[in-house]
Order: sequence, then structure tokens, then C-alpha cells
Amino acid sequence: MPQSAPISGELVIPSHIGIIMDGNGRWAESRGQPRVVGHRAGVRSVREVVRLCRERGVQALTLFAFSSENWQRPAREVQMLMRLFITVLRREVKLLKKNDVRLRVVGDISAFEPKLQQRIREAELATAECQGLRLNVAANYGGRWDMVQAAQQAARLAQQGEIEVEAIDEALLGRFICLADQPEVDLLIRTGGEQRISNFLLWQCAYAELFFSETLWPDFADDAFNEALTCFASRQRRFGKTSAQIMDATLS
Ligand code: FPP
Repeated sequence: MPQSAPISGELVIPSHIGIIMDGNGRWAESRGQPRVVGHRAGVRSVREVVRLCRERGVQALTLFAFSSENWQRPAREVQMLMRLFITVLRREVKLLKKNDVRLRVVGDISAFEPKLQQRIREAELATAECQGLRLNVAANYGGRWDMVQAAQQAARLAQQGEIEVEAIDEALLGRFICLADQPEVDLLIRTGGEQRISNFLLWQCAYAELFFSETLWPDFADDAFNEALTCFASRQRRFGKTSAQIMDATLS
């Protein structure tokens, strides 16, 4: 069950925010620029949102940087994105460390070129002791992939005779799902006007509140972020219970 969110001032702050950063390509194209210019501009929004999450006391932020399906984009765009990831990881790691942000990359990184895999490992290691915000970057990630890899780990335990097949329940499978050591996602934000989940943290978003923003990712800054937080704070989260039960529990 998701953990309860801490209170900051008047606002209930989500413990874990997931973001599908959409709209980079359209942002660039509307300026007559190549799509990669939009991805580069998107890095500025990443920095800004990390800062805002730290400021607001959010515990974990997970960003969808590259989905398992993004390999189907034109080869040149994929190549540019890979180069951008390498540059960003090298350039930002000091700043993350200074701000006590712990980075983790989730997804099948074995598909990336060795240099990128190495940068990922170095950045994770460099920030491993940080105690502040958990910044997770989903790269070559898919929610279905995540469930399959978890099922495989559980099946392996059963095959080795360490558990009975019947012991595989939600709690056990959940231990193998990416980010099991962090709160479940409370708030899922998607920018860029589309309203779908696109195979992002399917398991972890089971009870997430969804917020869809028209703002394209490179334009996403404090106003849009605050709007998402305000909207989240106004939602009644019932986790399957009735509204009356939730009201009773709040009053008691
Ligand atoms: C979706 O916009 C965006 C991406 C697939 C890439 C996002 C990557 C970054 C912002 C770089 C951040 C880097 C790190 C390491 C966190 P889109 O291209 O689908 O936009 P469109 O819908 O307008 O075409």
C-alpha cells in the first residue's frame, strides 16, 4: 500500500512523482529547429524540476527518459539522444552530489553502448551516499519489461527450490519490481497534451493520481509544477475504500 505523503505548509506533498517528459520534438519543430534542440532544452526542465522537488521535500522523482519503444525512432534521433545522455551524466553528476541527490537508472541498460553504461555506473556510484532526493531515470525501460524481469526472478527462486510457486504473491513479486525500495508513485505527470501512460511504471503507478499537462516539456517550470502539486493535494485518495471511510479516518 502506498505510504502516506508528508505535509508541507498547507499542501500534501507526494512522496514519489513520476514524469513522462513529452513534447520536446514538437517544441523544437514549432521553432523550425531539429528535434534534438528540444531534447537539449528538456534537460533544463529536468534541472528545474529536480530543484523544485528538493525544495518541496519530495522523496523520489522518476523521469521517463527513453522507453523500450523509443528505439523505433529515426536512428539519428536515437544516436543524438544517447550522446545527450552521456553528456548530461558527465556534466550534472557534480551538481547532483552537491545537492545530495542520489541517482539511479532503471531499465535494461545492457542494450546501451559500453560508454553510456559506464557513465551510468559512474554517476550512480558517485551519488550512492547521497541521502536527499532519489532521482530515478528510466532508460530503455518499459513497465511490462519490469514485470517480466520480476517474474523471472521469482520463478528462478522457485526453480531453485527456495520458495513454493504458491508463495509468489503481490508482496513477493513486488520485491523484484524496479524501485521496490522507494515509495510507490503518488503522482504521475505527463506533459505535452497526450493522455496515456505509455508503458511507464505500470506496477508502481497502481494507485497514482494522474495529471496531464498541455505544457510541452521544455516549457515545464515552476508554474506548471505547482499546478500539478495543487491538483494532487485536492484529490481524495481512497485506495479502494469509500469516501465516507476516508472522511471518518481523517476526523478520528
Ligand atoms: C519525449 O519527447 C522525450 C524524450 C523521448 C526524451 C527525453 C529526454 C530528455 C529530456 C533528456 C533528459 C536526460 C536525462 C539524463 C534525464 P518527444 O520527442 O516524444 O516529443 P514529441 O511528442 O513532441 O515528439
